[in-house]
Amino acid sequence: MTNQLITWYKKNKRDLPWRNTSDPYKIWVSEIILQQTQIKTGIKYYMKFIDKFPDIDSLAMARELEVLHTWQGLGYYNRALNMLNAAKTIKNNFSGIFPSSYNELITLKGVGIYTASAISSICQNEKKAVVDGNVYRVLSRFYNIATPINTNDGKKLFQKIANTLVHDSIPGIYNQAIMDFGAIHCKKNNPKCNTCPLKINCKALQLNLINYRPVKKPAKKIRTRYFNYLLIKFDGCIVIQQRDKNDIWKKLYELPLIESKEMIDKNHIITHNYLDKFKIYKIQTNGRKKHMLSHQKLVMSFWEIIVKEWPKKQIYKKIKLTEISNYPFPKPLKEYLNKEDKIH
Ligand code: ADE
Ligand code: SF4
Repeated sequence: MTNQLITWYKKNKRDLPWRNTSDPYKIWVSEIILQQTQIKTGIKYYMKFIDKFPDIDSLAMARELEVLHTWQGLGYYNRALNMLNAAKTIKNNFSGIFPSSYNELITLKGVGIYTASAISSICQNEKKAVVDGNVYRVLSRFYNIATPINTNDGKKLFQKIANTLVHDSIPGIYNQAIMDFGAIHCKKNNPKCNTCPLKINCKALQLNLINYRPVKKPAKKIRTRYFNYLLIKFDGCIVIQQRDKNDIWKKLYELPLIESKEMIDKNHIITHNYLDKFKIYKIQTNGRKKHMLSHQKLVMSFWEIIVKEWPKKQIYKKIKLTEISNYPFPKPLKEYLNKEDKIH
């Protein structure tokens, strides 16, 4: 299987911007980005990130907000903050030289078994096998494995099999081969079994089970949250705030928020104590938006509130509408604010 995948890869590999480098910094950036996004979006963000922070030094010196801004729209913002943290560690503890050995990499914030294996195998041919979504799919089909991939048993089992398959002298090529193979040949939907170099030995194909592999245990129940966002406006300015709790979107900016257990109406908003300090001139609903996160469903309602004046005591952060783009916002809020931006 190993050699067949490598032969396939030589002919079919994708031309990706980080394929022509063994700079561990760049490989790291690409691997963190690709953990959470499709390849097309990933390439766009990779180019943007490398353009802004071409090396570990430039990242280590960056401000948190700059990094979040570059990451805006990708989601999982903690990953961006972890990268900044890791960059600082590398500057302080590794003399600014990005490590490429597994044992050093695994000590960095945000670098787990997958990422350390990918970087060390690609950059210094360390014999470490990666297991990502693509690898789970290819192996579960080829060996017809029904152990759920999102359990400890599953993770252990697939890692063990991957360890036996990884190539002795070109583990980095092998890892990229199986990932590319899973991404464009043994795809989730309509895998190309007819032209597959592995089809003679593919167990799930023989048993007609490819659409049932890999097996996943049902995910945790999804929690619904109601976010009521207040666009408080006067004289071309609005109020924003930074999220500081240990919750989704930590450190990103948002509008003043009233979270509720269920949908609430205009009266609830007007009488909420957040608005005590404001003299309301006009309030109107500005629509609703649903947004899915991995374990949460957000029902976001927007309320436009025009006030008569700004309160004397300014204990909140006021910005001009034209300054919105200077702040990183979560994607659904950004979309809402962009619309606002066009009107005014
Ligand atoms: N997906 C994530 N990292 C990858 C890589 N290095 N090659 C192919 N697909 C990937
Ligand atoms: Fe994947 Fe089909 Fe090939 Fe089996 S035969 S490895 S299911 S593409």
